[in-house]
Amino acid sequence: MRLYYLLFLLSSTQALQNGAPTSACDSLRPFHGGGIPPQTDISPYTVFAKQTGDVVQVSLGSSLGVPFQGFVIQGRTPNGQVIGTFQLPGGTSGHTIDCSGAADTVTHTNPDEKDLLILIWVPPVGYEGTVIFNATVVQHYNTFWVGIQSPRIQIQKRSIRQDAFYSGCGVTKYCYGDPIDCVNTQNCRVAVAITSVGEAFDFELKANGNPVWAGVGLSDDSRMGDDSVVECVKDNSGRIDAFMSWTGVNPYRATRLEDPKHGINLLNSSINGDELYCKVRRDTVTNVKGNIFDLRRNSFHVLVASGSSLKAEGVGFHDLARLASPDPQVLSPNSQSLFVTRGETGRTDTTTPPYFQPAAPKESSTEFDSFYEGCGNVKLCFGSPEGCISSRNCKAVTAVTVTGEIYDFELKASGNVAWVGVGLSNDTKMGDDSVIECVKGGNGVQAFMSYTGIQPYRAVRLTNPQLGIGLLNSSIIDDTIYCNVRRNARTNVNGEFFNLIENSYHLLVASGSEVTPGSVGFHDGTFLASGVKQALSDTSEVAAASKLLIHLHGAFMLTAWIGTASVGILLARYYRQTWVGTTLMGKDLWFAWHRFFMVLTWLFTMAAFVLIFVELKQWSNESNPHAILGTVTTILCFFQPIGAYFRPHPGTSKRSIFNWGHWLVGNAAHIIAIVTLFFAVRLTKAQLPDEVDYILVAYVVVHVVTHLLLSVMYCMSEKSGDSRVSSFPMKDLGGSGRNSAYNDRSMDSRFSTGRKFILGIYIVIVVVLVLGLILITVFAPIKDKWPFATSN
Ligand SMILES: *[C@@H]1O[C@H](CO)[C@@H](O)[C@H](O)[C@H]1NC(C)=O
Ligand SMILES: *[C@@H]1O[C@H](CO)[C@@H](O)[C@H](O)[C@H]1NC(C)=O
Ligand SMILES: *[C@@H]1O[C@H](CO)[C@@H](O)[C@H](O)[C@H]1NC(C)=O
Ligand SMILES: *[C@@H]1O[C@H](CO)[C@@H](O)[C@H](O)[C@H]1NC(C)=O
Repeated sequence: MRLYYLLFLLSSTQALQNGAPTSACDSLRPFHGGGIPPQTDISPYTVFAKQTGDVVQVSLGSSLGVPFQGFVIQGRTPNGQVIGTFQLPGGTSGHTIDCSGAADTVTHTNPDEKDLLILIWVPPVGYEGTVIFNATVVQHYNTFWVGIQSPRIQIQKRSIRQDAFYSGCGVTKYCYGDPIDCVNTQNCRVAVAITSVGEAFDFELKANGNPVWAGVGLSDDSRMGDDSVVECVKDNSGRIDAFMSWTGVNPYRATRLEDPKHGINLLNSSINGDELYCKVRRDTVTNVKGNIFDLRRNSFHVLVASGSSLKAEGVGFHDLARLASPDPQVLSPNSQSLFVTRGETGRTDTTTPPYFQPAAPKESSTEFDSFYEGCGNVKLCFGSPEGCISSRNCKAVTAVTVTGEIYDFELKASGNVAWVGVGLSNDTKMGDDSVIECVKGGNGVQAFMSYTGIQPYRAVRLTNPQLGIGLLNSSIIDDTIYCNVRRNARTNVNGEFFNLIENSYHLLVASGSEVTPGSVGFHDGTFLASGVKQALSDTSEVAAASKLLIHLHGAFMLTAWIGTASVGILLARYYRQTWVGTTLMGKDLWFAWHRFFMVLTWLFTMAAFVLIFVELKQWSNESNPHAILGTVTTILCFFQPIGAYFRPHPGTSKRSIFNWGHWLVGNAAHIIAIVTLFFAVRLTKAQLPDEVDYILVAYVVVHVVTHLLLSVMYCMSEKSGDSRVSSFPMKDLGGSGRNSAYNDRSMDSRFSTGRKFILGIYIVIVVVLVLGLILITVFAPIKDKWPFATSN
C-alpha cells in the first residue's frame, strides 16, 4: 500500500503510470491518493461487447469523445468470477495482467489520453454462459468511474472452425456482404471487409461459389452507375489481380480505368476451394474520372458483387451475388461511428454527400453559429458584451447544459484570446469564485479549475487543476477558442462548497490574451458578470431584461436631481426679478418654470423609487447608504409639493415660516440626492465605472460656482438698488409668484441679462452632464466599450 501511495504521488495528477496493480483485481478500484472516492454520477464511458465468431470484441470509449488516461477491464461471470483471456490487437495501448488466470485482465501501459480501446476476448474453452465486462476508467487522476459494466453477452460453445475474415467486423473494420445479414452469420456469398490503415484503406473481398471475379463499388446511390469499383479477377491461369473500374449504365457494366491500377495495390490473394479471396489497399483519396473519392471524409453506399464470367473489356454480369447498402456508410470505424449507432453496419445517420464537394464559402454571418442553438431553451447562456446572445456575436460566452446531475459548460471566445473562463460567484465581482478556464496550450485547449482572489487580484489555479472537471471537446478555429467541460455537480474548492444543484450563482465570463505558466492573465478580452443569481438548470435568459429597471431608475434620478431640481431651485432662488411682468398661465415666469421643473423632479423621483422596488422586490442587501439616503430624499421630495400647495397667503405671518421651510426641505433633498448619487457609483448592481465620480464632482463645481456668481450679482444689485426693501428674498414671496416687495416695480433687477446668460450656460452644462451620466448608466457596465476605463 505504501508503495502504491508513493507511485500515486509520483504520478500526481495522472492515472497510474503503468496501469493497475494486481491488488485492483477484485475491487477494480485504483486507490488513487490512498482514498479518493470514485465518481458516483453517470459515467461518460461505455463498454460494448459483441460476439463475433468464437471471440468477443470488447470496446471501451465515450460516446461524447471524452478521452481517458487509465483503465482496467475484465470479463466476469455474473457472480463476479474473472474468466477468459484477452488478446490485444496491434497498436493497442495496454497490456494484460494475470488476476485469476493468465491474461484475464487488461490495463493501460501509459497515462496518455486514449479515445477508444478495442480488445478481443477469448472465452475459456468449452465455456457456455454469460459474460459481463467490468471496467474502471480513469479520466484524470482523481476522476474515475469504477464498475462500468457491458451488457450481458451470451457465449456459445466455441466452434471448431472460425473465420478470421469476419473477426472485427463492425468494430475494427466495416463489413458488408450478400445476402443480407450474412456478416453476422459469417456465411456470405460475397463480402467485403474494409479497414482503415493510416493513410489508406484495405479492402478484403471474399466470395464463394467458384467466382472468377468479386468486386466492391462505392456509390452515391444504391444502384449501379457512376460508381468506383475495386475488382479482383481470376485469370485463366488462376492468377488473381486487382483493378479499378467505373460502372456505366449504357452499356450496363463496369469498365476498367485507363490506368486500371490507379490508387490501388494488391496485397494478398488466394483461391481456397471454391472461395476467392483478395486484399487490396486503396488510397484514401482517389480521383476517378474527375470525381474525388475521399474514403475518410465521405460516406458511400457500398455495393458488393461477384460473377462467374469475364468479358473482353472487364468482368461479366454479377450472376453469383449482388447487394447494395441502402444507406451511405462510413468506411472507417472510429469512436464516433462505433458509439453513435452500435450497429453492424456502422453509422447510417450521416448526411455527408458521397462525393467530395468543394467546401461552401464560409458563412460570414453569425446566424449559423450552432453554439447559440438552444440558448434560453435547453441551455443557459451568458455572454459578454451584454445582449450578445441574441445577436450571436459574443466576445466570450458560456452555455451550461444540465442533464440530470451532469453539468456541461461550453465556453467560447473570439478575438484571438488565449483563454476563456467562466466563474461561479456569490456576487457580481471577482473574488472567491470557482472558475473553469480553457486555455490555449501546446497543440490544443486545456481545461483547468481556478479560484479567484483579490490579493493578488487574479485567478489562482488549484493544486489539482482538474478537480471535478473533464474536458469533453475543444477546438481552436480561426480566432475562436471553444471548449466543452463537464463539471461535477458538487465540488469543494479551497474549502468552499460549490453545489450546482442546490445553489444559484452569478455567472462571470471573461477572456484574455495572456497566459503565464500556471495562471491566466488579466481579462483584457472581455468581462461581464450576470446581474442576478441563477440556478444553472434555469435556462431563462440571464438578467438582461431586468437591468432595464435599474437603468431607468438611474436615468430618472439623474434627470431629476442633477437636471430639473437644480434648475428649478436656481430659478426660485435668483430669478424672481427676472422676466418681471412676463407671466405664463397667470403666474410669473420664474414661478411657472420653477413649478414645472419641480413637478418633473417629483414625478421622476417617485417613478424611479417605485421602479427600484419593483426590480429588487426587497430592501437592498448591499451595505451601502445609497438606499437609505435615497429613501430620505424621496420622502422629502414627496412632501415638498404638498407643503407648497397649502402654503399660507403672502403677507400672512406664517408665510415666512413656509418660505424657510420650503427652502430648507428643498435644498436638503437636493444635497442628500447628490450625495446619494455619489454612493450609487459604489453599488455593485449599478456597475458604474469609478470615473462617474469625476462627472458628479464636475457638476457640484459648476453648481456651486453658479450659486456664487448669482449670489454676488444679487448682492451687487441689492447694494446699488435705490429701494432696498427686502434684504432677503425669502422673506415674503408672493404665492401668486409675485414678490410683494417689488409689486410696484415692473422692471427686472440689475444684471438681468447676465443672469439669463448664466442660466443659459448652466442649463447647457447640466443637460450635457445629465445626458452623459445617463448614457454611462444605461450602457453600464461599459468597461468593454470604454477604452480608458481601467478595471478595478
Ligand atoms: C466537438 O466540437 C465540434 C465543433 O464544435 C463538433 O463538430 C463535434 O461534434 C464535437 N464533438 C463532440 C464529441 O461533441
Ligand atoms: C463490477 O465491478 C464493481 C466494482 O468492483 C462491482 O460492484 C460489480 O459487482 C462488478 N460486476 C461484476 C459482474 O462482477
Ligand atoms: C496472405 O494470406 C495468407 C493466408 O490468408 C497469410 O498467411 C499471409 O500472411 C498473407 N500475406 C500478407 C502479406 O498479408
Ligand atoms: C456563497 O453563498 C453560499 C450560500 O449563501 C454560502 O454557503 C457560501 O459559503 C458562499 N460562498 C462564498 C465564497 O462566499
